[in-house]
Amino acid sequence: MRVRIRNGRVIDPARGVDEVRDLVIVDGRIDAFVGPDVMGDFDLDVDATGLVVTPGFVDLHCHLREPGFEDKETIATGSMAAAAGGFTTICCMPNTAPTLDRGVDIEFVQSAARRAGRARVLPLGSVTQGQLGRELSDMSEMAAAGAVGFSDDGHPVWDARLMRFALELSRRHGLPVVDHCEDPALAAGGVLNEGRVSDLLGLRGQPSSSEEVMVARDLNLARVTGGRLHLAHLSARGSVMLLRAARREGIAVTAEVTPHHLTLTEDWALGSMGGRAYDTRTKVAPPLRTEADRRALVEALAEGVIDVIATDHAPHRLIDKECTYDEAAFGISGFETALGSLMTLVASGELALIDMIRRLTVEPCKAFGLPYGTLAPGAVADVTVFDPETTWQVSSGRFFSKGKNTPLEGKSLRGTVRMTLVDGRVVYDAQADAQ
Ligand code: DOR
Repeated sequence: MRVRIRNGRVIDPARGVDEVRDLVIVDGRIDAFVGPDVMGDFDLDVDATGLVVTPGFVDLHCHLREPGFEDKETIATGSMAAAAGGFTTICCMPNTAPTLDRGVDIEFVQSAARRAGRARVLPLGSVTQGQLGRELSDMSEMAAAGAVGFSDDGHPVWDARLMRFALELSRRHGLPVVDHCEDPALAAGGVLNEGRVSDLLGLRGQPSSSEEVMVARDLNLARVTGGRLHLAHLSARGSVMLLRAARREGIAVTAEVTPHHLTLTEDWALGSMGGRAYDTRTKVAPPLRTEADRRALVEALAEGVIDVIATDHAPHRLIDKECTYDEAAFGISGFETALGSLMTLVASGELALIDMIRRLTVEPCKAFGLPYGTLAPGAVADVTVFDPETTWQVSSGRFFSKGKNTPLEGKSLRGTVRMTLVDGRVVYDAQADAQ
């Protein structure tokens, strides 16, 4: 099988490449002979004139809800939505029912993903059994089954002693422990950021310090254990300051930020939904914070203090959001708006295009030790082709995801995914798959 993607602007941050050229794929691998005007016969010949051609995006953090919550999302619908968003590899969190905490659970996700045949799905196992925070899961068994990391995401690992053991074990199996940094006592049932907007709405807020004290604890434990720590979805300026200092010190830590924390603030909660004075689609954990926090996150990303962009795609049913802010579920459906949201930062000059791509490709692969994220000759041919210019209006009814829960409904975004290939095979084609 020979594929040519012709005349696109090929951007491969792993090798510092940014130039118009043809990309040739032979039997699922990037061909060694990549250059302009490659000759020969092709089974598929794609004209990418005016389009950007990059390594497939890699998402270290999403929720696919299967097993247990198939009315919110399935592995098939989630991995299709990911492909439509330009993601070729996605790492899914274990907060399912049952929790992914044994080798067979990891194998279940892998085989369902193979059947779906869209984005490659790599599961994380839980840190504690049932994500209950009491006893460690059998990480070695899950590592042997192919888990790519461990997390109790949705909750922190609140017991510092267990977190210490988990980090110690991470040295043995070489896989990261991904923590959802939230001190439960400080978060105290808060439903959005503690500050002006929570005051205005009379809702209980979560202070930034609920994230920051957990980040501080985790960095300390990473220092003493030498374990592999990955900080999930950072939201607060204070967390960035702690992380910057830890990196200077040489602590083995990586960190991610979501498109929504990079582009939205607590003020978005004041939008209305269903006749109410607030928009429950903005309810997310950690909460959207202030403009000063948002700016600090963007700066940290530009500096490389935060190395990865991850979606935290968290699909929910309509009924989970058509209720009061207190009752609503935490989470934003993120796969299909990620590129469009991030391209608004590129358009405003806050983020360089090559850096956006770097944080969606080579850096997540480095953080989790994954063998993808580049278009180097011989590499696995995971490729994303997108149009950086066209604007479109978000209409969740057209999402492949079952999760229509986006605060961006009706908003205008820039940048559309045109084609996604995994192992040299087309898993999404905007023209053929449009709905
Ligand atoms: O908003 C969130 N939703 N944050 C999390 O950490 C969990 C996620 C979910 O599972 O819905």
